[in-house]
Amino acid sequence: MLFVIALAVSLLVNTAPTHETGDFTYNGFRSANLSLDGLAVVTGNGLLRLTNETEQKVSHAFYPNPITFKNSSSGAVYSFSTTFVFAIIPAYPRMGSPGFTFVIAPRREFPGALPGHFFGLFNQTNDGNATNHIFAVEFDTILNNEVSDINDNHVGIDVNGLVSVKSFPAGYTENNIPGFRNLSLVSGKAMQGWVDYDGVQKQIRVTLAPINVDKPTTPLLSLSLNLSQIFKETMYVGFSSSTGTFLTTHYILGWSFKVNGQAHRLDLSQLPRLPHMKKQISILLTTGLPFICLFFLSILVFAMVYAIRKRRKFAEVLEDWERDYSPHRFKYKDLYVATKGFRDQELLGAGGFGRVYKGVLPTSKTEIAVKRVSHESRQGMRQFIAEIVSIGRLRHRNIVTLLGYCRRKGELLLVYDYMPNGSLDKYLYNQPKVTLNWSQRFRVIKGVAYGLYYLHEGWEQVVIHRDIKASNILLDSELNGRLGDFGLAKLYDHGTDPQSTHVVGTLGYMAPENTRTARATTSTDVYAFGAFLLEVACGRRPIEVQEEDDVILVEWVFSCWDKGDILEARDPNLGTDFVAKEVELVLQLGLLCSQSHPTARPRMRQVVQYLEGDLALEELSSLGISKSGLQFAYHEGFSKSIMPDPSSSDKAFSQISSVANSVLSGGR
Ligand SMILES: Nc1ncnc2c1ncn2[C@@H]1O[C@H](COP(=O)(O)OP(=O)(O)OP(=O)(O)O)[C@@H](O)[C@H]1O
Ligand SMILES: *[C@@H]1O[C@H](CO)[C@@H](O)[C@H](O)[C@H]1NC(C)=O
Ligand SMILES: *[C@@H]1O[C@H](CO)[C@@H](O)[C@H](O)[C@H]1NC(C)=O
Ligand SMILES: *[C@@H]1O[C@H](CO)[C@@H](O)[C@H](O)[C@H]1NC(C)=O
Ligand SMILES: *[C@@H]1O[C@H](CO)[C@@H](O)[C@H](O)[C@H]1NC(C)=O
Ligand SMILES: *[C@@H]1O[C@H](CO)[C@@H](O)[C@H](O)[C@H]1NC(C)=O
Ligand SMILES: *[C@@H]1O[C@H](CO)[C@@H](O)[C@H](O)[C@H]1NC(C)=O
Ligand SMILES: *[C@@H]1O[C@H](CO)[C@@H](O)[C@H](O)[C@H]1NC(C)=O
Ligand SMILES: [Mg+2]
Repeated sequence: MLFVIALAVSLLVNTAPTHETGDFTYNGFRSANLSLDGLAVVTGNGLLRLTNETEQKVSHAFYPNPITFKNSSSGAVYSFSTTFVFAIIPAYPRMGSPGFTFVIAPRREFPGALPGHFFGLFNQTNDGNATNHIFAVEFDTILNNEVSDINDNHVGIDVNGLVSVKSFPAGYTENNIPGFRNLSLVSGKAMQGWVDYDGVQKQIRVTLAPINVDKPTTPLLSLSLNLSQIFKETMYVGFSSSTGTFLTTHYILGWSFKVNGQAHRLDLSQLPRLPHMKKQISILLTTGLPFICLFFLSILVFAMVYAIRKRRKFAEVLEDWERDYSPHRFKYKDLYVATKGFRDQELLGAGGFGRVYKGVLPTSKTEIAVKRVSHESRQGMRQFIAEIVSIGRLRHRNIVTLLGYCRRKGELLLVYDYMPNGSLDKYLYNQPKVTLNWSQRFRVIKGVAYGLYYLHEGWEQVVIHRDIKASNILLDSELNGRLGDFGLAKLYDHGTDPQSTHVVGTLGYMAPENTRTARATTSTDVYAFGAFLLEVACGRRPIEVQEEDDVILVEWVFSCWDKGDILEARDPNLGTDFVAKEVELVLQLGLLCSQSHPTARPRMRQVVQYLEGDLALEELSSLGISKSGLQFAYHEGFSKSIMPDPSSSDKAFSQISSVANSVLSGGR
């Protein structure tokens, strides 16, 4: 009977609305009847959202009924245990507002409590006052020195106020794995917390771990604490949170609580899903997308600029009439690759018309020399191209083969066979490192004579070289002399206004009549060839600039001959190793070709015959050569003022570059 009464009483007590033994488990809060205030809401899918992104607000979520915590007869606080899964999602990575607390308090309302670091539980007046009877475990994500926080990511036990009785950086020690691991509370990831009170030992333990990690046996915080003074007989349990200036959302996913026993395990698979992925993506989209767009846009712009620049870099000029010459046409890109981008290391030399680069054609691996000629005018270009292409068809062992050409805006590129031994001038003047002995020189002379003879008479049409001189005689691998650069001077003749005739050629090689009429003929070529003969035999330039008096080679050789010792004029570098008869022949022939009367000069056919000994050269006196008959253009057409600076004597007179340039730039 007594038993029945006791049962009835206990039933009565159990069903009483204001007192509970306290044992509940929420795997999601969809069907929970929590007491919420402030920002706290239960979302559609059952998440308890303590805060949203509203500044300076508080929120509370409590189990609705008070729970009995004390043995009324002894006044001791019962053991209790709780666990919950939470997530703190900041609007901006790693910036949290104050955090939240698990709280046990005598009331569910906190009038006058402040947001921010007060967690919606206290204010300045009541902070730390023992009459509060508040016990809380804070998950704090802000460093506030006013309340002696240890860092901006810690867990602390608070009694009646904000200054934690004990606190430690957030983290855990996984079971059976030594070492403490940090956890970032504001990482946005779900994690699990445990708060256990041993009513016999008077010991409180707080434990933290990532979700899916078993409850660590080593707690994060362990504190001996007699709760008897703090707790009242019945208390409310729940969570409190607040927002500050940094916008943060606090979620509780599941919660279980039990007085006098272990709280039930949460069924992690049943917990509602966090919206955090969507959130991350949306953060990524709102803040990252413009950057991503900008990134791709800039890549696109960069690629386009690159493509345009590349196209412009390799742009060529190709006109309709050039179709016939396509076999002789080179792609600029190929020449660019061949000469390694026309870099300075590949530069062979520079003349009046432009620079010459060495190159190796990418496909055929043949060695080439590329001459870049800048040419502003398109006038005469068509005829010129036609001419050089037709000349390019002629093949002779004493002529540098023109392989083809390429045209760009304001520029013409001529592609020649590469001559490994360079130009003859390098072996003659200014104490050369290597000189040629007489038999080599004589071979070169004969070769050049044959080459020029071929141009004048050996081919279907008469080709006038126009610019014979030592630097245009190139030596192949067998030291054969070869004529290069033929016809190029003509490019500058074309398009020249006939009224104001500019003369193009090289001073010292130019026949006197040439300076007056600017008409190139085979005999002007012979005149230049004569200057070349003297040059090779004497190892001196046609005109040498000296302080007092310039040496004019023809006059000097003539004076030697006049004195009766023409051999005195020979190049001292020859030493004794020479054939006197041949040197004499070359010097005399040089004088013969240098006569100012075009008709008095021999033709190339005869020059070849003299050199081969097929025709005997009579004494010059018997030919009636006199000093007045030997004239150099130097006296007639040019004043010293147009000549280059004599100090740069190496380049001096190699070119009337100033004249050529004036023709190019503004002469027409
Ligand atoms: N086919 C070639 N093979 C090897 N080297 C060459 C070739 N063509 C030219 N060169 C080198 O390039 C240099 C410059 O040649 P370039 O023809 O531009 O000048 P130049 O002969 O001194 O004067 P010009 O402009 O009157 O011809 C030459 O001195 C020669 O050393
Ligand atoms: C935050 O929650 C409160 C209460 O539910 C609501 O009034 C407010 O509009 C919400 N603010 C935002 C930014 O979601
Ligand atoms: C929820 O709790 C309140 C008291 O906080 C009570 O008035 C209400 O009836 C409860 N509702 C349900 C569905 O249990
Ligand atoms: C309350 O305390 C008394 C005396 O200390 C003890 O006998 C009793 O069992 C306790 N009640 C409970 C529910 O623990
Ligand atoms: C502080 O809080 C207490 C109780 O919550 C309240 O009575 C008091 O008015 C508050 N003081 C201020 C300054 O808000
Ligand atoms: C604590 O609060 C009580 C009641 O609000 C008040 O009377 C008392 O003076 C306060 N004590 C301190 C130290 O502020
Ligand atoms: C953990 O955090 C502390 C500061 O809270 C820091 O000193 C330590 O280097 C961190 N350890 C690791 C492994 O990140
Ligand atoms: C706890 O505090 C109460 C009241 O102050 C006291 O009676 C009790 O002996 C204390 N228990 C321990 C273990 O210190
Ligand atoms: Mg040249």
